[in-house]
Amino acid sequence: MIDDDPFWWRQAAVYQIYPRSFADANGDGIGDLPGIGSRVSYLRRLAVDAVWLSPFYPSALVDGGYDVDDYRDVDPRLGTLTDFDALVSDLRGAGIRLIVDIVPNHTSNRHEWFVEALASPPGSAARDRYIFRDGLGPDKSIPPADWTSAFGGPAWEPVGDGQWYLHFFATEQPDLNWDNREVRHDFLKTLKFWSDRGVDGFRIDVAHGLAKRLGEELPSQAALDALPRDDGGHPLWDRDEVHEIYAEWRALFNSYTPPRTAVAEAWVESSRRHRYASPEGLGQAFNFDLLEANFDAKEFRRIVDENLALAALSGSSTTWVLSNHDVVRHATRYGLPEPADPAEKHGSEWLRSGGTFPVLDAERGLRRARAATLFELALPGSAYLYQGEELGLHEVADIPDERRQDPAFFRNPGVDIGRDGCRVPIPWTPYGPSFGFGSGEPHLPQPPSWSAVAVEVQATDPNSTFWLYRDALALRRALQTGEELEWIPSKADVVHFRRPNGWETVMNFGTTPVALPEGEVLLFSSPLDGLEVPGESTVWLRRG
Ligand code: NOJ
Ligand code: CA
Repeated sequence: MIDDDPFWWRQAAVYQIYPRSFADANGDGIGDLPGIGSRVSYLRRLAVDAVWLSPFYPSALVDGGYDVDDYRDVDPRLGTLTDFDALVSDLRGAGIRLIVDIVPNHTSNRHEWFVEALASPPGSAARDRYIFRDGLGPDKSIPPADWTSAFGGPAWEPVGDGQWYLHFFATEQPDLNWDNREVRHDFLKTLKFWSDRGVDGFRIDVAHGLAKRLGEELPSQAALDALPRDDGGHPLWDRDEVHEIYAEWRALFNSYTPPRTAVAEAWVESSRRHRYASPEGLGQAFNFDLLEANFDAKEFRRIVDENLALAALSGSSTTWVLSNHDVVRHATRYGLPEPADPAEKHGSEWLRSGGTFPVLDAERGLRRARAATLFELALPGSAYLYQGEELGLHEVADIPDERRQDPAFFRNPGVDIGRDGCRVPIPWTPYGPSFGFGSGEPHLPQPPSWSAVAVEVQATDPNSTFWLYRDALALRRALQTGEELEWIPSKADVVHFRRPNGWETVMNFGTTPVALPEGEVLLFSSPLDGLEVPGESTVWLRRG
């Protein structure tokens, strides 16, 4: 069923699995590879083209597995390399490709390189794999710079001998030095290791952060913040030389048939995204614009135009994302009050700040989320879906502090509640100790209300969000041809577009119904009442 098509990814629907929260086969409360294997028939039924597996490598789980101890093994709590091979083969048997997450910006502090670096003196080859600097002041007790980490708190950590190391994320995630040849060589080895095991592609974590130019004098955080981010010359982010690394990776990817693919997680100015997506580089880059947008017709339309143009510039296809393991689930985002200032985005940072959520209209959020999903799945390009969105799951807001895991929560007390709310284990059945996730207590608590939205419940309800996704994905597979889109004039609150084969999508962002255009109705996000597109709804049609 899986062929050698080198362009399989261009319009693929990719389903992200956060392994520790998908399915737990051995009942220890943590999802695992055999658990995923046991759900392959579900994935096939959902009609996804590929799975993206978030990190499953040995890890202390300080950052949900993005703190990797060993890049070429499986966390023993999640399984073994043999389980991994079995999963690849089960997925392939079901016609599903596999993308794995690679975390090259930092290792964990338990990685053998970092252990060796700490045991080695300043100036040693072992320290050169990371970014060490002497502290300031007579006893070197002042950090080399006042930089803050992405999770809050300082980005430099002392090691007790006058030196400090850089960590842009948690203290347990030391940044690697990509000027070091051994670091480069070892990652090529890792990419080859997984490619040889049958992996089809890679998702590259923090792809814009690898190349750094620190120099002798480190600028202050304020000076860094004041520097432009869009000229390739920022000392830390999105430097032009990062693409030299990816050119080396591309040579390796292209030595396989079909070539291995890669998608960059690069939070860069949209004008620079195409560099990551170029065929000489990673080949594709995430576009997070929809995920950051307010529920607004003009904004959605502008984002589509801009990203189709950017994709044309790189020769790649664009990517659409509404939810992932880092952001507030879109059913929840869309159910929150409109920001007072429209320039203020409904992005996750704003939502998670203040330590709690503003009032949620859950029903409205889900209605809009279903509409946005049908919009997304009708666009040219690939769509990255996040486990649980096909059940219409909401962000879980009320996780007790003592159960939280995300370093973003611990490093920002009372300010940021972190990302655990979108990482709660999936409900498969309406009953059982963890709604069918496993036989033990899940590593994050599920709300009792999830009994009603379990897979088994939704599978028997043709109006469920599960069936909406399933039908949409199956239809998309049949209809997705060409990468063009034509806008059809519509009212201010409405977007209407046509794909070359006559597949049309109308999305009504407003709250009053609008007339349904002519054509055969294929699918709708809210029940149709006569010849109208209800408020906050999307309809797929075919004409001609
Ligand atoms: C982006 C990942 O998606 C996120 O989960 C992680 O915390 C950071 N990169 C650091 O690896
Ligand atoms: Ca388990």
